Amino acid sequence: MEYKIVLCGSEQGVEAMEKKYLFSPGPTMLPPEVLLKMAEPIMHHREPEFEKVMEEIRKGLKYLFQTKNEVMVFTSSGTGAMEGAVSNILAKGNKALVVRGGKFGERWGEICKAYGIEFVPIDVEWGKAVRPEQIRHALAEDPSIRAVYTQATETSTGVKHPIREIAGIVGKYPDTVLVVDAITGIGVFDLPMDAWNLDVVISGSQKALMLPPGLSFAALSEKAWTFVERSSLPKYYFDFKRELKSTQKNQSSYTPAVSLFVGLREALRMIQEEGLEALFRRHKKLAEATWAAVKALGLGLFAPEAPSEALTAVKVPEGIDGMKLQKLFFERFGITVAEGQDRVKGKIIRIAHLGYYDRLDMIMVISALEMLLKQMGYSFELGKGVRAAEEVFLKEP
Ligand SMILES: Cc1ncc(COP(=O)(O)O)c(C=O)c1O
Repeated sequence: MEYKIVLCGSEQGVEAMEKKYLFSPGPTMLPPEVLLKMAEPIMHHREPEFEKVMEEIRKGLKYLFQTKNEVMVFTSSGTGAMEGAVSNILAKGNKALVVRGGKFGERWGEICKAYGIEFVPIDVEWGKAVRPEQIRHALAEDPSIRAVYTQATETSTGVKHPIREIAGIVGKYPDTVLVVDAITGIGVFDLPMDAWNLDVVISGSQKALMLPPGLSFAALSEKAWTFVERSSLPKYYFDFKRELKSTQKNQSSYTPAVSLFVGLREALRMIQEEGLEALFRRHKKLAEATWAAVKALGLGLFAPEAPSEALTAVKVPEGIDGMKLQKLFFERFGITVAEGQDRVKGKIIRIAHLGYYDRLDMIMVISALEMLLKQMGYSFELGKGVRAAEEVFLKEP
């Protein structure tokens, strides 16, 4: 039987009333509570009212990052905090170790290069996680390495790296710090900064924090702050020492994105209300349901050995054009899923489940995937993916 998707009676298959759904791993969908707060009349950032906002943000971020350290907030996309984590941590002539298992791992290397920092890359096959032994080996080989740069989740492949194990290894080196890009990680799964001895943790607003893009975050351990003292690379806006001082006074060094800060306060309230344990459990369930659906449809996970709870990278089956599939999601259903980048362009699609997502959101996106695949000629039994996801959701806990 040939399937054609016609919605709301339109011959073109384009819905008359179009709703938009973001299932990209950043930016993600936003809660109305946050949107409404951000729509309030703007306040001035040097008034006491803003200091109150900052005070609550500081508490909320410490809870989220599971740290007693300050978490600094910058008005920039996540890459800004990445850059700061190089320029504030290293000194001229220092060497870094960079885990490169996808686009964002590559970015660590690019930033090091921009600052004239020599780095040793650990090139990990896309779709695989770095093995802790690789870090152990690289550090043993070259004791002059001062910092290890990695991702918690490599968003371009959907891989979750073994941060706890890596931290255990780096922690044995008093003169080396671990820097974790947890832009896709914080607020998704457990990454307790203090308990695991993570030295630098950075994040961004447009993922699990349920905010638009525009804020980045950085938190440093006491050990990492001693590196800042010694750092000699140029910096201005992303000057961690200056920003720490402002943060401690419930201020921001420069004009902050005030409305985003107000939204952040609300998002952090929601996160604290849900509680970290429940938050991590929810993400795990959403991820497990998506993985089960993908498998039930006879599709493969791109990162089967170490999939992240943040997003699912789905291998596009033979004979199906992945770029077209990604495009059709939007054209037919108003759904944005992410395509594969670089060497996996057209070969995978990435479905996000981090932040403001619930069970029925996932059922919806899986149902859309089924309808599109059916229409594109992929052979499987309709409803199998949705059913597999429902079965995961009905299982306790
Ligand atoms: C793991 C990771 N690192 C870094 C970035 C870069 O962040 P931004 O695009 O906000 O600068 C992203 C963004 O998607 C990411 O997922």
